[in-house]
Amino acid sequence: MIITVNGIQHTIDDARQNDALLEYLREDLNLTGTKDGCHVGVCGACVVLIDGKPMRSCCRKLKQVDGHEVLTIEGLHGKDGQIAPIQQAFIDKGAVQCGYCIPGMIMTGHALLMQNHHPTRDEIRKAIANNICRCTGYVQIVDAIEAAGSDYET
Ligand code: FES
Ligand code: FES
Repeated sequence: MIITVNGIQHTIDDARQNDALLEYLREDLNLTGTKDGCHVGVCGACVVLIDGKPMRSCCRKLKQVDGHEVLTIEGLHGKDGQIAPIQQAFIDKGAVQCGYCIPGMIMTGHALLMQNHHPTRDEIRKAIANNICRCTGYVQIVDAIEAAGSDYET
């Protein structure tokens, strides 16, 4: 199997085809920004983009991503290697408390803003409806995704 993660191709033994993508990212590639919250597809902490679409990496087997492109929070960046604008927006809007849900929130928000630079607040709420945050109450997270939209124009 061949999987591209953050632009780098990785060859994986077929014997591991039923391993979860989440484990591979965290344990083999040491990309621990993707979080393991519930491990059963409920919380959204493990969301990565697969071919540009937000997916729960705890529920994806490696064989399901063979030949596909995976983007994790570590693969996001702004111009000249700076922090990505959506990450900066989360900081500026005070949208991070414990932080555990935030990589999944940011990847979900990033996928939305790539498709729709100026979503309504309802569209943002709908996009993150399956990402659980136990700390923030969601308002600042919606604020951050809304504020980052203009950085996706060009
Ligand atoms: S860890 Fe994957 S959805 Fe919770
Ligand atoms: S910031 Fe703590 S779970 Fe969201």
